[in-house]
Amino acid sequence: MVVLGIETSCDETAAAVVSTTGDAARPWQIRSNVIASQADIHREWGGVVPEIASRQHVRDICGVVERAMSDASVGWDDLDALAVTQGPGLVGSLLVGVSFAKAVAASLSKPVVAVHHLAGHIESIFLEHGNIPLPAVVLVVSGGHTSLYFVPERGVYSLVGRTRDDAAGEAYDKVAKLLGLGYPGGPPVDKLARQGDDQAIDLPRTRLTHADRNPPPPDLASPFPPGLKHIAEFSFSGLKTAVVRYLRERGVAVATGLAVPSDAGPLSPGEVADVCASFQRVVVEALVDRTFAAAEWLGARSIGISGGVSANSRLRHDALARGERDGLPVFVPSIRLSTDNAAMIAAAALRKLERGETSPLDFNAQASLAIT
Ligand code: KG4
Ligand code: ZN
Repeated sequence: MVVLGIETSCDETAAAVVSTTGDAARPWQIRSNVIASQADIHREWGGVVPEIASRQHVRDICGVVERAMSDASVGWDDLDALAVTQGPGLVGSLLVGVSFAKAVAASLSKPVVAVHHLAGHIESIFLEHGNIPLPAVVLVVSGGHTSLYFVPERGVYSLVGRTRDDAAGEAYDKVAKLLGLGYPGGPPVDKLARQGDDQAIDLPRTRLTHADRNPPPPDLASPFPPGLKHIAEFSFSGLKTAVVRYLRERGVAVATGLAVPSDAGPLSPGEVADVCASFQRVVVEALVDRTFAAAEWLGARSIGISGGVSANSRLRHDALARGERDGLPVFVPSIRLSTDNAAMIAAAALRKLERGETSPLDFNAQASLAIT
């Protein structure tokens, strides 16, 4: 089977061709993987501007798809199906990919498969590593999500817990903005953190002690034991506030709203690196500790970590080291498959096609969408 995947949920226009191999241990092969990033356009605004993002997807999508087809040396007739991200994401951006995929599918009389963006991030682990030991606990950690899934068998994803407020990537982006490091914030904070002292600033670790005051939304009515909720949830907005407080105390003029501060004021480059390192330590400790706790609780035989923040050097290092220590294999996709891409969307569609699932041509883009 040959599938063309399309991903336009945020600020990357991506297309990829993925095919089946016939090898049970490594069932999928990436034939091409093209990504046109809009980061340079949105940087000026300090974050993604939805209206600009959707207009840019319209400009880029034909060229990106043509390139993916030619890199893979396939023609339209070679395709067995199209795959596209249905949601969650920015609805105007999603609509571009969804309309494009449906139009191509209709004109070629080929099936189309609507894919959940996070199913794509989960399947990026299987796309990279083949069939990892199951059951697995998978942490999807990106700019929009920080969620733990239990994967008892291939293609089945049960939400175990998620962030109550900001996503980890969002916290990186906000802290980077406060320090004048630009958008997206993860890569520069990660880079500077390697030069800083991670104990320099005493930032609080989040304690989720008010669970009863903040009951989870009804869609998180979970089949898991209630105790798990406390170890499988995340919170990063308090940490961001602690960074703001520290910067104010140090005399940094902290901007609010969309304004982008141009620099970190009185902080020396060494002190900026210390803020990055201290912030990164707290984020990574929370992600690693809770993921391993959930894996132990659920008797997982492996751990997967995916999504944009899984590109983080400390998260990769600490999770792999902890996995080695605990005798629990940890699987992280390569950097190119960690951040948004269309190969993972094609892979998630292949998973559905294995079960004979395709989507009717009247499906719509959805900004928020439960995983199925
Ligand atoms: O998965 P992704 O490309 O898009 C979403 O689905 O959100 O993730 C983007 C997020 C951004 O917040 C970006 O700052 C973060 O991933 N990110 C990182 C790193 N590289 C990207 N965060 C921490 N360290 C990195 N090296
Ligand atoms: Zn993503």
